[in-house]
Amino acid sequence: MGISIALDGPSGAGKSTIAKEVARRLGYVYVDTGALYRSIGLYAYRLGKKTNGASEVVPLLSDIKLELKYIDGTQRVILNGEDVSEAIRAPEIAMAASGVSAIPEVREFLLDLQRNMAEKYNIVMDGRDIGTVILPNAQVKIFITASAEERANRRLKEHLAKGQEISYEEILKEINERDYNDSHRAAAPLKKADDAYELDTSNLDIDGAVSAVLGIVDEKMNALRPAPKMAPPVNRFFYRLVRWIALLILRIPMKIEHEGLENIPKTGSYIVAPNHHTLMDPVAVSVKIPNISAYMVKDDVFKVKILHILKIFHAFPVKRGTSDRSAIKTSLDYLERGYNLTIFPEGTRSKDGKLGAFKSGVVFVASEANADVLPVGITLKRTRLGRKHLIVRYGKLIPYYKVKVNSMSSSELKHSRDIILNEVKGLIDE
Ligand code: DC
Repeated sequence: MGISIALDGPSGAGKSTIAKEVARRLGYVYVDTGALYRSIGLYAYRLGKKTNGASEVVPLLSDIKLELKYIDGTQRVILNGEDVSEAIRAPEIAMAASGVSAIPEVREFLLDLQRNMAEKYNIVMDGRDIGTVILPNAQVKIFITASAEERANRRLKEHLAKGQEISYEEILKEINERDYNDSHRAAAPLKKADDAYELDTSNLDIDGAVSAVLGIVDEKMNALRPAPKMAPPVNRFFYRLVRWIALLILRIPMKIEHEGLENIPKTGSYIVAPNHHTLMDPVAVSVKIPNISAYMVKDDVFKVKILHILKIFHAFPVKRGTSDRSAIKTSLDYLERGYNLTIFPEGTRSKDGKLGAFKSGVVFVASEANADVLPVGITLKRTRLGRKHLIVRYGKLIPYYKVKVNSMSSSELKHSRDIILNEVKGLIDE
């Protein structure tokens, strides 16, 4: 299972708008479960069935095939091959959906479809019973509310914007009626999960609500991250000594500057991801980081016998261009034991100083270890006197849940690589 964020709450509380934006910012898939109930409501309504009658609706289920598709990141609902994404938004279908959603067989019918989405993707799923029934193990559960009056106001604006004639009183009545239906039905009534945060959006605009949700996600996901560890202290002592000597030696041929030191976490274990410029990079980056790092190094390096000495400094080989399971395993092992792990995501040194494409290894490891990523930008310049000048800039730690992939699909991998790449890019002088 990947990361699931469950947003439940009454209709009109702003869930779908908030969920969509939160999903976009996190690069997760947004699943609007109300659309599924609406599709079944639409099917029954078109056939002139009583949408709150189990005896009329249940026999229809065997004729219904529902699929969720994503086109440019937008969810489309396909009912027996027909894209009904717009048709299900009609006001009469909202009522039909409320009716069919009270039927236990309907809920059962939609269960697997919803759970499969959470198996496959990192998701933000909005609905009524996501945190209680569909995904009781969701990492983050938020119950979003707003007063009925505020919700009626918002709905009224939406209808007016679409040119639909409807009065405030009518909407308020409909909202109260739907709230009552949704929270008093026997099957999966609308109810806050015990472990859900409650967020009242009555006095929040969309931006405010999105920030509040992202804040809760951050807090919860950080709490779920493995506790920060450190490499064994004996090694750390030896390492500090070596680091000090290394810095002295490094400074002989070049000027070195470190920036963004406040961004370096004091305790491990996380991934350090710098761009790669000079042979000095591994040392130049590590000298300011308190925890010891292991280094993922391309295997060619170890063809030179003398360089096996790097193993003392926890360098280990990776075969590039393959998914090198053994290198991934070694990486996870180091992180597990409290070491940091330095991976140069470009996989090799840049000859011209330009930032190269990032490989997926860093994303694999971060995903499997739930490890945060410290982006580092290295810029090589010349001082006025022609001396080499290396600027090492540390960026803000990227929390693991922002780069963690679930399906390992190429688009997911690219999204996560790009997050790290863009951070590193922002730390380099052009
Ligand atoms: O969120 P919405 O307005 O699109 O939902 C339509 C109806 O479906 C609503 O009356 C409640 C019901 N519903 C549900 O019972 N469970 C869900 N997970 C989502 C929606």
